[in-house]
Amino acid sequence: MPRIGDQAPEFRAMTTHGKLNFPGDYAGKWKILFSHPADFTPVCTTEFIAFANMQKEFEALNTQIVGLSVDSLSSHIAWVRNIQEKIEWEGSKNVEIGFPIIVDLSKHVSTLYGMIMPGESNNACVRAVFFIDPADKIRAIIYYPLNIGRNFDEIKRVIVALQTSDAHGVAMPANWEPGKDVVLHYPITTDEAKARVAEEGLKCHEWYLCSKKL
Ligand code: BEZ
Repeated sequence: MPRIGDQAPEFRAMTTHGKLNFPGDYAGKWKILFSHPADFTPVCTTEFIAFANMQKEFEALNTQIVGLSVDSLSSHIAWVRNIQEKIEWEGSKNVEIGFPIIVDLSKHVSTLYGMIMPGESNNACVRAVFFIDPADKIRAIIYYPLNIGRNFDEIKRVIVALQTSDAHGVAMPANWEPGKDVVLHYPITTDEAKARVAEEGLKCHEWYLCSKKL
């Protein structure tokens, strides 16, 4: 099962957008690889509408979304067409699913990424989300069970937090959102601790907890 800090396992697969060589086809991009339990199911349908509605926001963050389930290509195609033609959900209708969905009938990719958790289901993926950076390293993973839809604002928040952390060499406190103060990594020597509390422009609650505006 891949872990945070590992290189993203490579695979080739068929998708609703044609053949995919992952992660190589998305060189230089952030990637969100997510699994859903099954096509034509209620929670998954609401998730796909929510994710598709935010696709442009993820593109603006240089982030490629890729879905996956153990369903067939014709099932994926029929489902995304059905969503666009028939489903109206919370004011959204005529929603086009603009990201590729991997066909994983053999369970090769879902096994490679540990997306099938037998205590939850032997046959279907849990709701896994892998956040993969432009160097193809796994940077965050979240899992939800079959019966709970994900929060896509949180998925966007994680991407923005990772990108901001990388750009500025800082960490994000609880409930951080863009515009809020960030925290500094804690000092690792007594000299660094002394320098930290004397540093201009920081709000130090203690030597190990200092925040600042970006
Ligand atoms: C759903 O998307 O509603 C769902 C899919 C598989 C199992 C349970 C719920």
